[in-house]
Amino acid sequence: MLRDTPTTIYLKDYRPPEYLIDRVDLTFELGEEETRVRSVLQIRENPAAEVSGVLRLHGEQLELIALSLDGRPLQATEYQVDDEGLTIQQMPAQCILESDVRILPQKNTALEGLYKSGTMFCTQCEAEGFRKITWFLDRPDVMSRFTTTIRADRIRYPVLLSNGNPLNEIQTDDGMHQITWEDPFPKPAYLFALVAGDLRSIEASHTTPSGRDVALKIYVEPENIDKCDHAMASLKHAMAWDERCYGREYDLDIYMVVAVNDFNMGAMENKGLNIFNSKYVLASPETATDRDFQGIESVIAHEYFHNWTGNRITCRDWFQLSLKEGLTVFRDQEFSADMGSRGVKRIEDVRLLRAHQFAEDASPMAHPVRPDSYMEINNFYTVTVYEKGAEVVRMQANLLGSDLYRKGTDLYFERFDGQAVTTDDFVQCMAEVSGRDFSQFKRWYSQAGTPELKISSDFQPEQQRYTLTVAQHCPATPGQPDKAAFLIPFAVGLLDKNGNEMPLQLQGEAEAITGTRMLEVSERRQQFTFIGINERPVPALLRGFSAPVKVQYDYSDEELMFLMAAEPDGFCRWDAAQTLAQRILLKRVATPDAEIPAGFVEAFRKALTDRESDQALLAEVLTLPSESYLGDQMKEVDVEGIHRSRESLKRHLALTLKDELLSLYHDNYSADGYAPDAVSIGRRSLRNLALSYLIQLDDPAVLQLCIDQFRAGQNMTDVLAALSLVADKDVPEAEQLLEQFYQQWKNDPLVMDKWFTLQALANRPDTLSRVENLMKHPAFSLANPNKVRSLIGAFCSGNAVGFHAADGSGYQFLGDRVLELDGMNPQVASRMVRIMARWQRYDKQRQQMMKAQLERILKTEGISRDVFEIASKSLE
Ligand code: PHE
Ligand code: ZN
Repeated sequence: MLRDTPTTIYLKDYRPPEYLIDRVDLTFELGEEETRVRSVLQIRENPAAEVSGVLRLHGEQLELIALSLDGRPLQATEYQVDDEGLTIQQMPAQCILESDVRILPQKNTALEGLYKSGTMFCTQCEAEGFRKITWFLDRPDVMSRFTTTIRADRIRYPVLLSNGNPLNEIQTDDGMHQITWEDPFPKPAYLFALVAGDLRSIEASHTTPSGRDVALKIYVEPENIDKCDHAMASLKHAMAWDERCYGREYDLDIYMVVAVNDFNMGAMENKGLNIFNSKYVLASPETATDRDFQGIESVIAHEYFHNWTGNRITCRDWFQLSLKEGLTVFRDQEFSADMGSRGVKRIEDVRLLRAHQFAEDASPMAHPVRPDSYMEINNFYTVTVYEKGAEVVRMQANLLGSDLYRKGTDLYFERFDGQAVTTDDFVQCMAEVSGRDFSQFKRWYSQAGTPELKISSDFQPEQQRYTLTVAQHCPATPGQPDKAAFLIPFAVGLLDKNGNEMPLQLQGEAEAITGTRMLEVSERRQQFTFIGINERPVPALLRGFSAPVKVQYDYSDEELMFLMAAEPDGFCRWDAAQTLAQRILLKRVATPDAEIPAGFVEAFRKALTDRESDQALLAEVLTLPSESYLGDQMKEVDVEGIHRSRESLKRHLALTLKDELLSLYHDNYSADGYAPDAVSIGRRSLRNLALSYLIQLDDPAVLQLCIDQFRAGQNMTDVLAALSLVADKDVPEAEQLLEQFYQQWKNDPLVMDKWFTLQALANRPDTLSRVENLMKHPAFSLANPNKVRSLIGAFCSGNAVGFHAADGSGYQFLGDRVLELDGMNPQVASRMVRIMARWQRYDKQRQQMMKAQLERILKTEGISRDVFEIASKSLE
């Protein structure tokens, strides 16, 4: 907790460590009151650094029991312990440092370091949690070989796990047992893990191309043992994919995944022993939705992929976080695209990026993919570092093409295996294999903000020329008033009036290509002239979303409808529909009865009745832009107006297209068993989307369809879709079904999360008071991050009308929760306070009220560094 203003840490201050730790021997004695940690460190001077002779180890909340150097107990004058670490004054060039400390995992509510989740012990060390376990050089450029011995009660903790391979188990007379694990790969302390509990596991095996047999194990609490199959199947797919697409295979004899209920994030890639939020492991058709199944597949893959991009090659310092996260997200995105529907995956990723990352870039929290300063590193696990970071890697792949990109990653793995490196090192590999200069490209890592491309076109029929003029501009962000021009891979195509691709030949080029052309925009203003163009084309811009930018081009409504129908690129087709819908929606925020172009409804009808195309893609095309995304497009967010406009357009579409929507609903019914494949998911999405339009009609027959779908109980996707529509309505069935759902699932925490979210998102006047009451519900707990996110987080960030209530009650509620949470779990509190970082986007009254909450939080004594950083930067 804060005493002084937190210090800011700068990338420019990076220095290599003065000491290295080659070996770490840890012994844990896990107890019900306290845990003892004995550590033996082999330390030596770093030959590559200037050494002062003073060793400073990180350590927090450790109670010293004993300390010795080369076997000699240290005298009180030879070392100092403070809140943040241990200092040893006269260090020999190399030595063995032994320590014995007491820690209190049972009291650890921050879920960082060693803590208890239910009856099991587990750890979370990224980014700086290892220092709450023992004294160490807790920085990613210090890589050590770890041996870990765990001693614990045999009955309570029959399963004892750590990184690497198990050596031996010893039973002792006192009812205890102990196991030693050895990890042969040097790793930074943030990848350390330990688990102890009464767990069951499912087991499978995988043989790598080089013939290594790997045992795959997923550990869960006994009641969940039948919910692990999808995670295991996903793991096997991920292993095969990484072998095929990146030539990477696994390197230990055993790969373990453990599911825990209390976890701050999604999952963690600890070497050989991933620890997961149970949300990303457990699934059955009855309890998990299609989204959950997809989430599991991608997070399992993400953590597996980290074994090479993160673990074998790690980050030099935390400013390089995107080196592992951006690259690994790009890898998991491509994996999911290969497993399911590629076009839909791209749309989902772009939707997320635009909704959250573009918003972050436009907020006081905007920061580069490689930040240059931070107060609390936990605050930088952001959509910018992850998702924009992935786009930055994707652009490099776009610029190089797949063969050269693969050569680049091959070189990266070969050159840097076993090292802690930087994003520059990664880009350097891409530069070397391609012979290209990436210095301008690297601005994507150092400059924050979303570039905007203003595009105009000019057709000169006499010369058969078509010119695209592209101007780029990037708005100022905190600390970066002026931006240099970016290098932007800009994929375009030109369509003739029949919707065919026109041959593309730039002035000065010898021949034409057909299909997509990857233009490279590098100047502030640039022209691209295509020759041999004999009619005015419709341009398809930023195909596949080839760069994380905003594009402005003055399409007519007719051109957008044409693209919706004819454009071959799925992303552009979807984007045309979004742009058109957005136009209409925003117009009707200002003028509620502004006309809805008949052509728009017709384009919708055409899409609805098109039985040819991919259902999942269709569902995306027919989904209107979200309220929050619409808000981002306005000068000042009109929460109520946006909500009204969106509801009324849905109602209009439902009224006009009722028959089509009904037959879509019925035609996509399937009596087959549940399968989470792309085709079945597409059908369910489309069907439930149709229902969400139809419910706008206030027609008792539609309500009955929802109730029937709920009662049929075929799978959680359909049950939840139906229930959430009914729960919005002011009808007696709403309470009945919610109660029935609760009775059926009250013992399943992950399903209870859905039950909380559903009620937090309900569009009703009394939602906030219901949320407040639900906080007292026995199934709720402020100590469990999933619960906080599914109730408080869902209301504050997913229910705009409720949260932004004109009387400020939503803001007061959030302010109270942030302060209440901060004492327990600063990381979770800090995620919550972030919701108010965008206060400038609202009207004066709301601004005042949000600011008042941020100021109240800042004035509170003892707030965490995490919350301080977000609240203070939000007000700057
Ligand atoms: N490194 C984890 C991932 O991206 C995320 C994480 C960060 C988990 C910090 C816990 C703590 O896979
Ligand atoms: Zn990751």
